Amino acid sequence: MHTERIPVFPGDPNLKSYEEARATFRWEDVEREFSWHTTGKVNIAYEAIDRNVLEKGLGEKVALYYSDPARQEAVTYRQMMEQSNRFANVLRKHGIGKGERVFIFMPRSPELYWSFLGIIKVGGIAGPLFEAFMEGAVRDRLADAEAVAIVTTPALRKRIPKDLPHLKHIFMVGIPEGGLGEGELDWHAEMAEASPETDIEWGDREDPMLLLYTSGSTGKPKGVLHVHNGMIQHYQTGKWILDLRPDDIYWCTADPGWVTGISYGVWAPYLNGVTSVVRGGRFRPDDWYKTIQDYQVNVWYSAPTAFRMLMGAGDDIVKQFDLSCLRHVLSVGEPLNPEVVRWGLKVFDRRIHDNWWMTETGGQIISNYPCMEIKPGSMGKPFPGIHAAIIDDKGNELPPLQMGNLAVKAPWPSMMRRIWKNPAKYNEYFKIEGWYLSGDSAYMDEEGYFWFQGRIDDVINTSGERVGPFEVESKLVEHPAVAEAGVIGKPDPLRGEIIKAFIALREGYLWTEDLKTEIIDFVKKGLAAHAAPREIEVRDKLPKTRSGKIMRRVLKAWELGLPTGDLSTMED
Ligand code: WT7
Repeated sequence: MHTERIPVFPGDPNLKSYEEARATFRWEDVEREFSWHTTGKVNIAYEAIDRNVLEKGLGEKVALYYSDPARQEAVTYRQMMEQSNRFANVLRKHGIGKGERVFIFMPRSPELYWSFLGIIKVGGIAGPLFEAFMEGAVRDRLADAEAVAIVTTPALRKRIPKDLPHLKHIFMVGIPEGGLGEGELDWHAEMAEASPETDIEWGDREDPMLLLYTSGSTGKPKGVLHVHNGMIQHYQTGKWILDLRPDDIYWCTADPGWVTGISYGVWAPYLNGVTSVVRGGRFRPDDWYKTIQDYQVNVWYSAPTAFRMLMGAGDDIVKQFDLSCLRHVLSVGEPLNPEVVRWGLKVFDRRIHDNWWMTETGGQIISNYPCMEIKPGSMGKPFPGIHAAIIDDKGNELPPLQMGNLAVKAPWPSMMRRIWKNPAKYNEYFKIEGWYLSGDSAYMDEEGYFWFQGRIDDVINTSGERVGPFEVESKLVEHPAVAEAGVIGKPDPLRGEIIKAFIALREGYLWTEDLKTEIIDFVKKGLAAHAAPREIEVRDKLPKTRSGKIMRRVLKAWELGLPTGDLSTMED
């Protein structure tokens, strides 16, 4: 089995020996690196930003290089500190403080990061939302979290519901045509008036700071709650997995609306005091390579979909750029095809280091390390200090090469602490005593490398984004033409999976191209573009259990031309 190996590259990584670290590493030792180890006062935004200015002399160092086609800006650590202080003061002026949920819904920009850090400095809980969400998705999240405020831009204002009882303040970054409406505040004017100094709200390690919504196989998206304590893991994985060194220029391509864009787009780089690149605008292969070249990016963290798109754009484009600055390349979000790893070796002369984790784990759990041989197709090995294993349904650890539940011994520093207002959902993850159940299946080989096999539930992973089939189905049946709907992930060479919907039409509707486009648009507008089906197939009737649940596994078998298996629970 798996004989292909990519040897360690020359260099001097932060983590010298995986085996030694596994045997000796203790999280308690990492805690000493933080100022709260002596003061007992905790705020992750202080440790990530202010401390670099006030205690480490990095005030004039660039923290953020922002660029999009219309704007290029370099922001120092001191400016990050002062601007986030200002926003903290703005929030306080409006009575917003500890424990309150403040959402951010806007395209990437320096203002987004300042607002985010300001929320955390007042002890608030930040809820970043991906800018592509449409009104329905925004409403679900704001309502569930009982958000009191949101930071947004004029272009996105239409998607923010005006009838939510808790939502009192809308901070508008930019002035809409026709001026500000009720409850809307001018972000820039407020910032200009605010002091660049603030009193940080100090708290406890276990105080919440981040609420991220993620999809499951049933029900509405759930609010995954993270606490300040996660910094221990963000810092140490930043050192050993991202292999960050003091002078590095680091680029994480993920949007801050997803967990990667926060844990590894904000915390890990800033806790390690490096310079981070953020690129706005749309994906274009030549722009991406140019970003690496122009900013001399050393460490680059991206996703399989992006690598596959770059691969698809051809090797000639790569040759137009000097990418010799790249030292370390990483990938997360979905299975990284061995073919992509081989391509990376060929065009960048670099190994792409796959790693595995989830919104719920808050930080990286399994990874390939620079000091370790890579077996293309494997996610690597558990982080020192974290015990991940393959277990059966009773919690027994399975021997190598047996497929089972990918599970993590609880707790670990950046583990989620709650599902917002839904303890039952939270407990489901921990229903096997002592373990966190990921919902993924995998196996471990004889050398301790983990190999991803698939999701155990029906959650779809399209271009690295998690989409719950139930949400899409619910939206589809809201359309007047759709009687019932079943949604599955269909394997796709570029996107990993695409969303395919099977629907049955209501009486009197005729299946046409126009209707298809209309239904797809309906989901795009109601949920999000990435959640809309790319394919729709019409059937007279969908396979259902006697209790009325759509049998997605039967749809999947139809799609793949596989046997449908046990149909004993299917209605007539
Ligand atoms: C799910 C989590 C936290 C990263 C962004 C996604 C899949 C993640 C890998 C990998 C195969 C992977 C899993 C996981 N996944 N990394 N290296 N190989 N699959 O976070 O949206 O919470 O999704 O993404 O299925 O459970 P997320």
